[in-house]
Amino acid sequence: MRNVIEANSLKLAYPRHEPVIKNATFRVETNQFVFVTGASGSGKSTLLKSMYGAMDISGGDLSVGGIDMRSISGSKLYKLRRHIGIVFQDYKLIKEWSVEKNVMLPLIIAGFPKDVCRAQAIKLLNHVKLSHKSDKYPMELSGGEQQRVAMARALAHNPFLILADEPTGNLDDYSSQVVWELLERANEELETTVVVVTHHIPEMFNAEYRHLMIENGVVYDIH
Ligand SMILES: Nc1ncnc2c1ncn2[C@@H]1O[C@H](COP(=O)(O)OP(=O)(O)OP(=O)(O)O)[C@@H](O)[C@H]1O
Ligand SMILES: [Mg+2]
Repeated sequence: MRNVIEANSLKLAYPRHEPVIKNATFRVETNQFVFVTGASGSGKSTLLKSMYGAMDISGGDLSVGGIDMRSISGSKLYKLRRHIGIVFQDYKLIKEWSVEKNVMLPLIIAGFPKDVCRAQAIKLLNHVKLSHKSDKYPMELSGGEQQRVAMARALAHNPFLILADEPTGNLDDYSSQVVWELLERANEELETTVVVVTHHIPEMFNAEYRHLMIENGVVYDIH
């Protein structure tokens, strides 16, 4: 599959509201790293939600992983989501579960044996430099640490696509760096396609990345 995401004249509107996205036409190819920028309220989170099937499509076309998102529902959507990693603000860690079990969640859902889930969780917690916190509960972690756990969880099941909504918002420099490095590594080593909303594109991403910018409801394909 060459195009992981394909949007043609895509329109997105909340019920009884004017469209937030009036026109989006762009393609995201396999293994690309895409930044989405735009002012607050411009529709960045809305666009990301549509890629996860969490936003109805009001007009035009959108396909994700080769699947037509206009009519997707039920088991097909559930199946697609099992292959997408998300870091959304309203998709928090489960507070009754240990850090390790939180990271294991996507693998448990996918039906992997428990020892496989645990081994993968340990590996990922090591990547986000939180091995020493695996038995703790989310409330015992700082905001930055929790976000790094969320990052590890998003990557646990080797998704073909990661959707991250301001994954470094409110993080200090150290945690931000860990998050960016993890995303870059997933993109380079696992060929994961990454779409990330951010207010600031870090300098470590100098040349190869893609950039979509939203302004007045139009998604501009900057490069
Ligand atoms: N559930 C909703 N119902 C109606 N309108 C909504 C809903 N969620 C968001 N909106 C509106 O849609 C517009 C785009 O919101 P969105 O959350 O996509 O912006 P954003 O670019 O992610 O902003 P930010 O940078 O502040 O996160 C805003 O004007 C917002 O008020
Ligand atoms: Mg947002």
